[in-house]
Amino acid sequence: MTDKYAVIGNPVAHSKSPYIHAEFARQSGQDISYVALLAPRDGMRATMLAFRDAGGRGMNVTLPFKHEAWTSSTIRMGDADAAGAVNTLLFRGDDIIGHNTDGIGLLRDIRDNLGCTVGGRRVLLMGAGGASYGVMAPLLREKPECIIVANRTLDRAQALVAHFSQEAAAMACILAASSYAALAGQQFDIVINATSAGLTHEMPPLHDECFAAGALAYDMVYGTTPFLAFAQARGARAVDGTGMLVEQAAESFFIWRGVRPATRPVIALLKQRM
Ligand code: ATR
Repeated sequence: MTDKYAVIGNPVAHSKSPYIHAEFARQSGQDISYVALLAPRDGMRATMLAFRDAGGRGMNVTLPFKHEAWTSSTIRMGDADAAGAVNTLLFRGDDIIGHNTDGIGLLRDIRDNLGCTVGGRRVLLMGAGGASYGVMAPLLREKPECIIVANRTLDRAQALVAHFSQEAAAMACILAASSYAALAGQQFDIVINATSAGLTHEMPPLHDECFAAGALAYDMVYGTTPFLAFAQARGARAVDGTGMLVEQAAESFFIWRGVRPATRPVIALLKQRM
């Protein structure tokens, strides 16, 4: 019997996850199906439970449902608890087991695929929404010198910093909130765009000299964005979120199937298709 999986979202038709998981399944000889499932904005839980009750084994969750997936989880694993968001569900008996693989996906892309060390480096994280919460714990575990969280709405950055202050102290990492204006004069080794600005072809108001020599500029959105163009024009290594997308999917696949797919060929395939 083919095991059934899906990605649930609204909108969801644009999702690359069915393609990525089909590639993983083909590569590893796993007998699974994986579809995109559109849920009404007020109907995530009902759609999820109907899929499970029809034999679904697990799900990925995309916008705008990651927090609702977190509240719907009966057990939260690993980074999911602190993130307040779940992107991977595993159905086991009556339990809905929630994971968040976004942070580990980002870290694997930066550290393993791009060969960029996070430990001891100065990191600027732009944005203080769900995307930033999702990636904070794995970034802190690498023990960067500092993570400065910049956000248009400063009190959201302050709330994020307060939420992770104990983990930061345990890792001896300076974690601080900042406005964009107050960043002037500071340089960073890794600048991560976790805002949704790229989706509307905008970028955060970043100062010109923010990139240290050899800096990595990483946009969690995939495709070209104004931030990546800005970074490239200032000599930074500019990378979009394709690798993160494939790595978070690979971690979900591992949670469901116990098999680690090879990610690099799938990243290369996706980049060709875009
Ligand atoms: P997500 O869950 O994807 O992080 P979100 O919670 O809506 O979505 O957060 C979006 C983030 O992008 C926020 O940090 C937002 O800044 P504000 O908190 O000030 O709203 C940020 N953002 C969106 N558009 C932006 C823009 N044009 N410039 C700067 N920041 C932007």
